[in-house]
Amino acid sequence: MEVSRELSDVQKRVLELKRERNALILAHNYQTIDIQEIADFVGDSLQLARKSGEGTGYDMIIFAGVKFMAEMASILAEDIPVYIPAPKALCPLAAYVSAEKIRSMKEKYPGAPVVLYVNTTAEAKTEADYICTSGSAVEVVEATGASTVLFGPDANLADYVRNKTDVEVIDIDTRGHCYVHRQFDVAQLVLLKEEYPNAITIAHPECDPDVLDAADMVGSTGMMAQTVANSPHDTFIIATELGLVEQLQAAHPEKTIIPAYERAVCIQMKKNTLEGILDILENLPPEKLVVVPEEYHEHIREVLQRMSKVKGQGSAKEVRAHS
Ligand code: 13P
Ligand code: SF4
Repeated sequence: MEVSRELSDVQKRVLELKRERNALILAHNYQTIDIQEIADFVGDSLQLARKSGEGTGYDMIIFAGVKFMAEMASILAEDIPVYIPAPKALCPLAAYVSAEKIRSMKEKYPGAPVVLYVNTTAEAKTEADYICTSGSAVEVVEATGASTVLFGPDANLADYVRNKTDVEVIDIDTRGHCYVHRQFDVAQLVLLKEEYPNAITIAHPECDPDVLDAADMVGSTGMMAQTVANSPHDTFIIATELGLVEQLQAAHPEKTIIPAYERAVCIQMKKNTLEGILDILENLPPEKLVVVPEEYHEHIREVLQRMSKVKGQGSAKEVRAHS
């Protein structure tokens, strides 16, 4: 994202230390703008996973996002240490699918490959045959070549994939949902569409099916950012977390970006702060170093590499404020 305003003293200090430490800063689209402005790359989970794997040449990576994303970065970055500003930033969606639950579903549906949404714990990922993100779920499920797959933990994403493919998609747990995306309400969205008849509505696939039906487009946060940047339209209703809405409005002041719900905030994502990033650069606190048990690495790296073979949506944006 282009940064037009003067950077704060803390941001300047972060950039100074970032250069001294030869650190790469990756930030998810839901991070606050002050973090997005000092990041090297801002993107969705698939884009940031790819950037972590390409991070050779850096001495450390700071990942501003939720823990499962930083864990994925740590596995893909191999020998480069990965730090997370808020080690307690846990995605509650991940809690719906445990390794034990997957094993019991495998017994019930022998032979059906397990496709896990990346929003899962590292332990659960050891039971996955494939891992996908919102930007790659449809392609990954198709790439399995199977007629039936076990999918989790997000039941709305499973439903979206089910409607886009001929594959039978079985929920590992039908209760799995994201509390942020469940807040979008179709009645409220219809009213907004009436108020802005020329707006293009883009919704994240974690939203409820009726919200997705009412949207013009469905996609990952990276796909939303690319669509707004490249579209000739000037008004967009965005059904995802507010960090992306703020980013889009700041990046495209000439366009009107309307949040589909003004309180759609992921409190876990927002546990990361600029001060938390500065603390890493100043002190390298051991509790902020991301550690994935060694015995999980090989399997997770293998399934992540399988995902990286599919194209997926979008590409991570490079922040030009300090390059
Ligand atoms: P994206 O991969 O689309 O950024 O989604 C991540 C996420 O956690 C959505 O809630
Ligand atoms: Fe998890 Fe939802 Fe937050 Fe994404 S927005 S990190 S799925 S709680």
